[in-house]
Amino acid sequence: MQGRRILLVIGGGIAAYNTLELIRLLRGRGCAVDVVMTEAAGAFVTPLSVSALAGSRVYRDLFDLTDEAEMGHIQLSRAADLVVVAPATADLMARMAGGHANDLATTVLMATDKRVLIAPAMNVRMWDHPATQRNLRTLEGDGILVVGPDSGDMACGEYGPGRLAEPPAILAAIERTLSAGPLRGRRILVTSGPTHEPIDPVRYIANRSSGAHGTAIARVFSVLGAEVGFVTGPATEARPNAAEIVEVETAAEMAAAVAAALPAEAAICAAAVADWHVIDAATRKIKKTPAGTPPTLRFGENPDILKTLATHPTQRPPLVIGFAAETDDVVAKATAKRARKGCDWILANDVRPETGIMGGRENAITRITDQGAEPWPRMTKEAAAGKLAHLIAEALGGAQP
Ligand code: CTP
Repeated sequence: MQGRRILLVIGGGIAAYNTLELIRLLRGRGCAVDVVMTEAAGAFVTPLSVSALAGSRVYRDLFDLTDEAEMGHIQLSRAADLVVVAPATADLMARMAGGHANDLATTVLMATDKRVLIAPAMNVRMWDHPATQRNLRTLEGDGILVVGPDSGDMACGEYGPGRLAEPPAILAAIERTLSAGPLRGRRILVTSGPTHEPIDPVRYIANRSSGAHGTAIARVFSVLGAEVGFVTGPATEARPNAAEIVEVETAAEMAAAVAAALPAEAAICAAAVADWHVIDAATRKIKKTPAGTPPTLRFGENPDILKTLATHPTQRPPLVIGFAAETDDVVAKATAKRARKGCDWILANDVRPETGIMGGRENAITRITDQGAEPWPRMTKEAAAGKLAHLIAEALGGAQP
């Protein structure tokens, strides 16, 4: 942390006073701290106290930076190693998600080329509001890192999630983000989302995959320093922050994009690839016939992308991982699938409707390797992605120099 520079954006909430402690902790670790306060933040902490603790000037509006000889807002946003927003209020999160640049704080956040870590804090109802949750997903999709909020008694007298994470926890998140990351320098390929197989120019065959799983994995890998190649079908989930994003539609296009993205040190096939495509899809919209005869579709098998990667004669990634969503005999079927596809690990999911896993926020994975089956406890998809990333880092032998 010594010698690193943090740009701290203080939002206008009661938790703003906690950032004084955060500044003290950061300075204690040898970090330089530049501070931008929103106008509302000034109602909770005085620029003078912030400036005294930070040991530097506090910036409040664009006019503080008109003297370009000193430091312009672009330079301010880029001089930092990391931008931290605490407290990230509902309003600030909404403006960030919407790409606003209507004050110094949001302008700096739009202009920065550095990673951004937000520590949300707000009333529990505001946190639970669909708009805030939607903004949170957008921000995560933009690659923004999040610490907290914590649950507990709130200044407004209510109880629940919405409290600013404790300053030591924010400091730990900053340290984690600034450290190189266990996957630094590793090129990892992730397939994600559904595929669409055309019937004619306006109709297609698809599946219900949202791409949430592959996206969560890519997002965690990026944060841990990996260079992520992300090949996605037409998913509804916001795109992650990846080194390279290739958008495809069909399984054949996905197979070609994956081949073009090699070499990679690990490949994770999270896409829900259609097994079949329509042979000779019509080039014009298929019309109803006067006799009312329904059209006949002929299907051809799609390339198995996971199997192709796992059996590649020259460019097989050292670690190839697939998924298996099963409703019965999960371990036996996933073990057979691992052998059939020739991959190293299969992450098997029990997707019986009563588990609530399909389309839900949680996963109950069993990892199948050549050592057998290892059941993981039920956890969020994000937590499972984090666990997977650390196992991959371990298998690949830690960070590269
Ligand atoms: N997969 C792939 N290419 C395909 C089909 C599947 O890369 N054409 C990958 C998926 O991304 C997943 C794994 O293979 O990681 C298993 O997918 P699944 O649909 O469960 O396997 P299938 O081979 O289609 O077997 P089945 O549907 O018969 O269970």
